[in-house]
Parts: sequence; C-alpha cells; structure tokens
Amino acid sequence: MMATAWWVVARAQGAEAPPQPTPTQVVDQFQKNDGVFPGYRRNHAKGVCVAGYFTSSGKAAPYSVAQVFALGQRTPVMGRLSIPGTNPYAWDDSTPIRGMALVFTQADGQQWRSAMNAVPAFPVATPAADFAFMKLQQPDPATGEPDPKKLAAFFASHPAANRFREWVATTPPSASFATRRYNSLDAFELVDARGRKRAVRWSMLPTVRANPREVVPVDDPGFLAQDLRRRLSRGPIEWKLAITFANAGDPVDDASRAWTGRHQVIDAGTLVIDAMQPQATGPCRDTNFDPTVLPAGIEPSGDPLLKFRHEVYAVSHHREVDPLSHTQGSVPASATTGG
Ligand code: HEM
Repeated sequence: MMATAWWVVARAQGAEAPPQPTPTQVVDQFQKNDGVFPGYRRNHAKGVCVAGYFTSSGKAAPYSVAQVFALGQRTPVMGRLSIPGTNPYAWDDSTPIRGMALVFTQADGQQWRSAMNAVPAFPVATPAADFAFMKLQQPDPATGEPDPKKLAAFFASHPAANRFREWVATTPPSASFATRRYNSLDAFELVDARGRKRAVRWSMLPTVRANPREVVPVDDPGFLAQDLRRRLSRGPIEWKLAITFANAGDPVDDASRAWTGRHQVIDAGTLVIDAMQPQATGPCRDTNFDPTVLPAGIEPSGDPLLKFRHEVYAVSHHREVDPLSHTQGSVPASATTGG
C-alpha cells in the first residue's frame, strides 16, 4: 500500500516538492555534518565485528522458502555492532542508538544481509525527507551548531521526526549492546512455497535484561566493546528473531510509522553471538551490510528508503575501502541521523 508523503500533499497545495537526492549527495551530507574519517564507513563508523550462528525454530518455514528458516537449520552469521555517526572515535554515550548488522550465509551459498537499529521507528519516510533533515543538521559555520529555528520548523511539520527526537532525548544510552532490541524498521516480504507473499518486519529481541541500576561508564569512550568482551568471556550472547506480520492497513512502505496494536508474531529462531574482533582486522570491516541482499524466500518491500539504502550504502562502502575516493566534507560535530 502507498503512503501519501508529506510533500505530495504539499505539492497538491501548490508547494515545491523537495528534490530527490542522489546517493552521492547523501553521503557528502553525512561528511558535512559529522566530518571525514578516511577508511571508515560514512555512517555507523564506530563498531566491532561479531560472529556466531542462527538456529531456526522452523516456525517461519511455512511462510518462507529461505533455507535459513528450515526447521533446525544452523546458519553461520557474521556481523557488526555499531553506533551511528561518521566519527569512529565518538563516545559510546553520545547517542542512545545502537546498530546490529548481520550476514547469514546459507548452506546453498545465498545470503541474507540485514542492518537493524535499536530505535522504534525511522525519523522520516522518504529519501527526500531524509536529505532535507540531514541538511538541517549541518553545523552553521558561524555558531558550530545547526540552525535551531529551521530544525524546530522541520519537527513541527514532521511528527515522526519529532517523535524520534523525543525518543533520542529521553532514552539513556545503554551500557551494553546485548540488552537492546534491534528492529528492521523497513518492511520486507516473506515468500512461501506456493509463491504467496506476506509483509513483515523483524526484530532481534535480547535475552539479556539491562540492570535497571546500570551505570554507563563516564571514563571509557569504548565501554560497549569492553562490555561485549566481558560478556563473551563468560559465554555466548543470544537474541530471538521475532517476525511480525503486517495487519491489513499497516504501512509497509513507511519506516517512520511503527505498527501498533495486536499482531501475529513468530519466534523464528535464536541468534547466538560467540566471538568478536576489532573492526580494523575483522571480516565485517570490508562488508557492505546492504539490506537488499536477500535469499530466495525474502524480498524487499516497496519502501523507498530500502531501495535508497542499497544505493547509499554502496557509495559509503566505496569511500571506506578506496582511499582515493572522494572525501568532501569538513567539521566534526555530534549531530547524527538515525540511519
Ligand atoms: C530505515 C532504517 C535504517 C536502518 C535500520 C539502518 C541501519 C543501519 C546500520 C545498522 C548500519 C551499520 C551497518 C554496518 O555495521 O556496517 C547502517 C549503515 C549505514 N546507513 Fe543505515 N539504516 C537505515 C536507514 C538509512 C538511511 C535512510 C540512510 C541514508 C539514506 C542510511 C545510511 C547509512 C550509511 C551511509 C551507512 C554506512 C554503510 C557502509 O558504509 O557500509 N541508513 N545503517
């Protein structure tokens, strides 16, 4: 189903539609907002490689022919846990957002790549709105800060971005990657053996609870990696893969709108992470966690952000791995979008 984007309404009322950005413009904008750090991703630059496996419960098999969901199937997983932003030296308490990116490599060689964030919804629905929002976060050279009036006007006209801003402002940064729930946000389609398609979103649900009295270390900028190392020295960390099926009327092309109310949710299996490596030397460093790389049995939805992520991640990845690639941009700052 198609959502009516805000500028479609605005255009019908005679206003100019915001321009559709190119992937290069968006990656340039990440650099303008947060600085240039050669050799790193242009977003989610700070992270660690992780590895383990996924064991299927078989409960998703009736809905998808993907081998990863076959009953009892164990699929190797390589991944990356991260925080958003261009700065690989950012303090872990600079944002409450944590990211989980995974590559499941099936026995038949097909891969399922997924990049999820520990946020309830994305701030905007479309590439154009995302680019407009990013541009407003660029620090003004005179003040070193984004223009607060323009940002306030954006939040006033974009309720989802405002909800996102409130979530960021009121959610304390976690002391651990292990205690967070990571959401696909974008919708996808599961395809069963008869070719029937069902719209879904998925989440990795933590099996470890955060200590309600947890204190985030104030003297260690890299406490998330330290915490992971400590936990893995005691044993593996697990998440449950929850697949949520869309109800009729749920937005399947708008990652800025959460699906609310009762839904069919299945426990599709268990993700076990039992190893970590620094990203400088680990296999995640040179991996593009493009969320449109999917095995037979999982397909992208019509969400315009999803297609755009495919294009933007490719540009960002190219700049990471090719030291001679374009490095436009300047001033490090702390502003980040949720991407
Ligand atoms: C819709 C929800 C989104 C989610 C859940 C999400 C999640 C993530 C995650 C977890 C990563 C880190 C991947 C890694 O560890 O390598 C990432 C990377 C990135 N994201 Fe997103 N993202 C979203 C939307 C966007 C959007 C709309 C943009 C910009 C148009 C964007 C731009 C980027 C870029 C440039 C990277 C770095 C890619 C690379 O160089 O490999 N994201 N995202």
